[in-house]
Amino acid sequence: MLVYFVTDEPTKLPAIRAMLEPQHAVVPWVLGGDGTGIRSHGVLMVDIDLRQMPRVDQLKFILHELAGIPEKLFVVHNLSRSMVAQAHALGATSVISRPKEAILKVAQIEAAEAAAEDNAADPAVEMDQGAAAFASMFSDVRRGRPLKLVDAKRATSKIITRVGKDGLSSWLDEVRRYHEGTFQHCLLVTGVAVAFGLDVGFSDGDVSRLGMAATLHDIGKARIPLSILDKPGRLDAEEEEIIRRHPVIGYDLLKGVSGISPEILDGVRHHHEYLDGSGYPDGLAASQISDLVRLLTISDIFAALVESRPYRPPMSRQDAYQILCGMEGKLEGALVRAFRKVALGA
Ligand SMILES: [Fe+2]
Ligand SMILES: [Fe+2]
Repeated sequence: MLVYFVTDEPTKLPAIRAMLEPQHAVVPWVLGGDGTGIRSHGVLMVDIDLRQMPRVDQLKFILHELAGIPEKLFVVHNLSRSMVAQAHALGATSVISRPKEAILKVAQIEAAEAAAEDNAADPAVEMDQGAAAFASMFSDVRRGRPLKLVDAKRATSKIITRVGKDGLSSWLDEVRRYHEGTFQHCLLVTGVAVAFGLDVGFSDGDVSRLGMAATLHDIGKARIPLSILDKPGRLDAEEEEIIRRHPVIGYDLLKGVSGISPEILDGVRHHHEYLDGSGYPDGLAASQISDLVRLLTISDIFAALVESRPYRPPMSRQDAYQILCGMEGKLEGALVRAFRKVALGA
């Protein structure tokens, strides 16, 4: 089992190593240091002083990067009540009072994972694998590494299988329960777009192209500062301008990747274009916007509305659909009508 040990005190590392190795591999991540080699599976073990806000801020960045790791073990010395609450607010799945308790916890997590692997057809496991591939793709791009198309393909095909088998509603519920931020958004858009493509009778090839375009549509956001991406509340004009660069950033990241199809590049660059020419970045007119992009744009807006955010409850699917219906002129009316069944889950 890989244990990522996040600490603000490098001197703590030898004791952790002595305790967990060689049964487990300890990968250190010292706050403020370089986290080279970080992947998206294993256990995240956090032992930092949560009273120090700058350190908590650095930790939040790491947690965002490692959103795909489901187990987050926090060491809170003496189990101080306010710090335990802080750990849970940061996403802790377990809180222990001494590093030594990690031995038992990691063994339990490993046993549970082995049992899960025996049951790989379980939909929850399929979902985790899709989410893990997604997480590793985002994290690579954020760290300036090349994007691996194979991760995007793996995530997309897991989502297609899952949505095809269990429907969109269970996917929406699960993603909203376990993930947050841009990561949650992309998983939702892909689920919605795939359900839409399946519902309108797309061929398998078209469903996977649409799914891939959805998986990658906001990949450019991996290069936008988290302080803007995760800002609760309104963005100012300058922040807005920065965020509006993400379709072009995504397009530039992907255009040189071998094996990428032109439809996917089109979706990534143009998912914020509107039929009346009021969208961005290219202000395209209706005839220049392909069917795949039109479906993607509808799925994107719908998913953004029904997302759950820490600072507001998700909008109901009915209300979100009403908003789409009010965007006549920007979205294709016939497609919005065709989307009704998917949107309302009817
Ligand atoms: Fe976008
Ligand atoms: Fe989006």
